[in-house]
Amino acid sequence: MPDLLQQLDALSRGARDAVARVADEKALEDLRVRFLGKKGELSAVLRGMGQLSAEERPRVGEVANRVKEEVEALLDGARRRLEGAKLEAELAGPPIDVTLPPRRLLPRGHRHPITRATDEIAGIFARLGYEVASGPEIELDWYNFEALNIPPDHPARDMQDTFYADESTLRHGVEPGTVLLRTHTSPVQIRSMKRIGKPPVRIICPGRVYRSDYDQTHSPMFHQVEGLCVDEAITFADLKGTLAAFARAYFGAGTRTRFRPSYFPFVEPGAEVDVSCSICGGSGKKDGRRCGTCKETGWLEVLGAGMVHPKVLENGGIDSKRYTGFAFGMGVERMAMLRHGIDDLRLYFENDLRFLEQF
Ligand code: FA5
Repeated sequence: MPDLLQQLDALSRGARDAVARVADEKALEDLRVRFLGKKGELSAVLRGMGQLSAEERPRVGEVANRVKEEVEALLDGARRRLEGAKLEAELAGPPIDVTLPPRRLLPRGHRHPITRATDEIAGIFARLGYEVASGPEIELDWYNFEALNIPPDHPARDMQDTFYADESTLRHGVEPGTVLLRTHTSPVQIRSMKRIGKPPVRIICPGRVYRSDYDQTHSPMFHQVEGLCVDEAITFADLKGTLAAFARAYFGAGTRTRFRPSYFPFVEPGAEVDVSCSICGGSGKKDGRRCGTCKETGWLEVLGAGMVHPKVLENGGIDSKRYTGFAFGMGVERMAMLRHGIDDLRLYFENDLRFLEQF
C-alpha cells in the first residue's frame, strides 16, 4: 500500500510541476491525457488497487480521489490562465479596424413608392403646421357617410360603394351602427374635430381606403391624404394659398393650380383642383407630340376640396357660427403616378421588383 500512496504523491507533485510550466493549450491537453487519460498515470495507480486488502482499499481510494480533484483543478486553473493571457495579447496587439467596408456590399432595400409619396406629402404639410392624425380603416357608417352629410339614400353613396362587415363579427368596444371599410379618409375630419374639441384644428390624415373599384386607374384598396383646417375667419383664399404652396412643393416651383366648381356633400362650396401638367409643363405637348399624361389639356386633376359644410362642423362638435374651415382629399397613388409618369396604378401592388427598383 505505501507503494501506491507514494505513487499518488509523486503523481500529484509531478502534475503541479508540469502544469505550472505549461505554455499553450496543446501542451495542457497533453498533460490532461498524461495524468487523467484512460491510459494515464492515475489510471495506472487505480489498476494496482486490485491487489490491496479490503481495509487498505478505501484509504487509497480516498487519496486517489483527492489527487484526481487536485489535478483537475490545476488543469482548470492553467486553462483559465492561458485564455486570459491570450486575450491580453490580442488587446495589446494591433487594433481591428472596424471602419473597413465589407468586401461585398449587399444591395440596400428602399421604401415603396406609395410610402415615399405619403411621407413626402405629410412632410410638406408638417412644415405648414399640420399635425398627422389617424382613424380606423374599419369604420362606422355614421363617420364615413352620415356625419359627412351623406344620408342613406344619397346618390353620392353610389360613387363610393364599399365593403360592409357583419357587425356581429366585430369583437367588442364599437359604437352601434353599420360597419364598413372606409371609402375615404374624410371620416377622420369628424373624429379629429371631436378629439381636439376647440379650434384651431389643423390635421392631415394619410391612410388606406377601400372601394368596390378595379381598373387601370382605380384599385379596391388605395391611399388618400385628408387635410382639415378649422379656425376663426378661415376663407377660401386660405384653401387656395395652402394648396398652391403644396403643389409647388410636391410637383416643382413653376407648378400652377386651378379650381373648378364641384360637388361633395360635406363641403360648400366645393372644388376639384388641377395642377399644370408636370410632364409637359402645362403646354399639352411633349417633344412636339401630344402629351399623353394630361391628354393635351395641360392640366391634371389631383384632388377634391372645399369649405367644410356647417353641418359637418356641428357633427364634429364645433360651433359653425363662430368657426369656418377648409378640407381637401387627394389620392396618393394618383399623386405619385403624375409625378413619375406611371400609367397603370395596378403596378404599385403587383410587387414586381423590375418596377419597384426604379424608384
Ligand atoms: C373623396 O374621396 C373626398 N373625400 C375628397 C374630399 C375631401 C373632397 C375633403 C372635399 C373635401 P374622391 O372620391 O374624388 O373624393 O376621391 C379623391 C381621390 O382619390 C381621387 O381624386 C383619386 O385620386 C383617388 N381615388 C378615388 N378612387 C380611387 C380608386 N379606386 N383607386 C385609386 N385612387 C382613387
